[in-house]
Amino acid sequence: MSHSLLPQYWYVIAEARELTQQSVLSRTILDESLACYRDSQGKVVIAQDRCIHRSARLSSGTVSDGNLSCRYHGWVYGDSGKIVSIPCEGGEEFASQCGMKAKTYTSIEQDGYVYVCLKPGEHTPPRPMTLNELGSVWKGRVRLQNRFQNSLSNCVENYIDVPHTAYVHHGIFRKPRGEPLRTTVTRHEGRIDITYHGERLNLGTFSMFLNPQGSEIEHTDHFFAPNVTSVHYKMPGGYRYSISSQSIPVTAMETMVYTDISYDFGVWTPFAAWIVRRQAQEVLKQDIDILNEQGRNIDKYGERFYTTSADLIHTLTSEIISGMRSGITPAEISSETKEITFCV
Ligand code: FES
Ligand SMILES: [Fe+2]
Repeated sequence: MSHSLLPQYWYVIAEARELTQQSVLSRTILDESLACYRDSQGKVVIAQDRCIHRSARLSSGTVSDGNLSCRYHGWVYGDSGKIVSIPCEGGEEFASQCGMKAKTYTSIEQDGYVYVCLKPGEHTPPRPMTLNELGSVWKGRVRLQNRFQNSLSNCVENYIDVPHTAYVHHGIFRKPRGEPLRTTVTRHEGRIDITYHGERLNLGTFSMFLNPQGSEIEHTDHFFAPNVTSVHYKMPGGYRYSISSQSIPVTAMETMVYTDISYDFGVWTPFAAWIVRRQAQEVLKQDIDILNEQGRNIDKYGERFYTTSADLIHTLTSEIISGMRSGITPAEISSETKEITFCV
């Protein structure tokens, strides 16, 4: 674990609106327990969830006007996690002289998210990818949070896995039609680009509206190591729909997922948010059910997978993620372009 590259990357810890000067959030990322709040300047403080005095949890303390008091002996943490008061030493004067501080982590606010980097190092990007770079900037937007009892790798696999959609999301998304789908997959330095050729997406309930002729659509998927995927559909009439998923490794078998959906349905865009949110959450609930079930079996029997060539995308993503867990950089993993055909 110690040489894993994963702690060097940026992970969403919360939505920016969730962090305030009056409350403390408890989060776990890569098994590290974190307490987060905003200090009196409004700046995000992400501290190891452990009081430096006697190791009580900071996240079970209270925050008022940007000062966090530990619930055990009342030590107060202020701006940037500095100790500003030690009550049993008479309060603030002693504390200001001692210069003690919680262990804190680097954070960045971007796109309405707060990101943390646990261990900045040579592989740490200057900032997280923006939603703009992920292509999630159409007129309509919906944001969702969900928790999965499964690994980062299996969650990532799911978001860019087409075959399951006909089964898990039967009717909402696709129906099994047994039609071959030609796919080009390219991997280069921690990035995987997937292009589907000649797909005629059957969007179930929405096909009447989104793709009434059942014509060919444009569909590309992407993976950005270690934890981001994006999926893009463009309908023949110009309507667009994109889903970006940031999967946050909480523990080995728990993953928090922040989903950003953006869409452009022309004149219908302003009216679509409610139905897009409802539909997306329904689809995600189906994914949670199947991934949690898979997770329970993995806990019981270990991760024993039988893989065919139709599983190429998962093989390529999991090689990158497991490589990074053992200190291998994405650049050290082979670049390749392959064409596969599978039936959906
Ligand atoms: S353990 Fe936090 S104040 Fe003592
Ligand atoms: Fe799914």
